[in-house]
Amino acid sequence: MLKVENLKVYYFTRKGVVRAVDGVSFEVKRGENLGIAGESGCGKSTTGMAIMRLVEKPGRIVGGKILLDGEDLLQLDEETFRKEVRWKTISMVFQGAMNSLTPVYTVYQHFKETMKAHGVFENDDVAREITIRLLKKVGLPPRAADQYPHQLSGGQKQRVAIALALLLNPTYVIADEPTTALDVIVQAQIVNLLKEMKEKQGINLITISHDLGVLSALSDKLLIMYAGKVVEYGDAEKVLRNPAHPYTQLLIASTPRLRGKELKWIPGSPPDLRNPPEGCRFRPRCPFAFEKCKEEPPMKEVEHEHWASCWRI
Ligand SMILES: Nc1ncnc2c1ncn2[C@@H]1O[C@H](COP(=O)(O)OP(=O)(O)OP(=O)(O)O)[C@@H](O)[C@H]1O
Ligand SMILES: [Mg+2]
Repeated sequence: MLKVENLKVYYFTRKGVVRAVDGVSFEVKRGENLGIAGESGCGKSTTGMAIMRLVEKPGRIVGGKILLDGEDLLQLDEETFRKEVRWKTISMVFQGAMNSLTPVYTVYQHFKETMKAHGVFENDDVAREITIRLLKKVGLPPRAADQYPHQLSGGQKQRVAIALALLLNPTYVIADEPTTALDVIVQAQIVNLLKEMKEKQGINLITISHDLGVLSALSDKLLIMYAGKVVEYGDAEKVLRNPAHPYTQLLIASTPRLRGKELKWIPGSPPDLRNPPEGCRFRPRCPFAFEKCKEEPPMKEVEHEHWASCWRI
């Protein structure tokens, strides 16, 4: 089980401290799939990068625990983490990965270089065999191995990025915006691929997306983030059917495929994370805000397996 407890990741910029992830907690049990949702800049990618221990300067993990089967990954030395956890147990398809493939490398060369980086390259024959097997896993034909990124469609490039993340047979895969920048048909194909990965290959998926439609198809649990905090968390069906936090309610109301005609948007914009409002961070945009919201709302149980942090609960 992967359990994140009170995770805090700050960026120490010259203009101040950006509290990008500010006390986030959740868990992913074996066989469970989590979706992380929220507007741009709310800290989704930073949360994923923290789990991979790949937060870069000026960012730093300043607090919390990341427990894998009870062991705090933040306490492991880098060497052990790199050898035993990163890519091997937990891997990540980075946001925009499909656009960061190297233009002068064929698909096979990407796999070869990645194998070398992980210290598992033996020889070209073995490496090609592994590459073709992984390509097949993500629905690409063997000939894709000898193609260059510019010869592939967006969806095919995303499949390559996903296959690269599967190289060391991870148990947990974090997919950061796996369908963004793809057209709707290709989006559906990638969602199906991820679905198959979790159902047939037993991978525990952590999908990060601003698209609740994508998340509802892939997640057993949902984590709704707003301005570095968790506003709602729990069983995906319950959160979507009975959202308790005004932010979640507005997010669902502004998702076309979930709501049809009565499309809404959320007025205002998220706060500056260098100087967020006191208490509930959604308060300045919340249609129901009252005096009490100047104090930070605790996570309260809405129903079994469903929590939200709002004073109205
Ligand atoms: N290298 C950095 N230096 C300073 N601030 C950063 C850095 N990287 C991210 N941030 C800030 O941290 C906050 C969270 O960023 P993050 O990329 O995690 O958001 P996100 O939810 O993934 O957004 P998006 O949906 O746009 O991908 C944002 O306010 C962002 O401006
Ligand atoms: Mg992001």
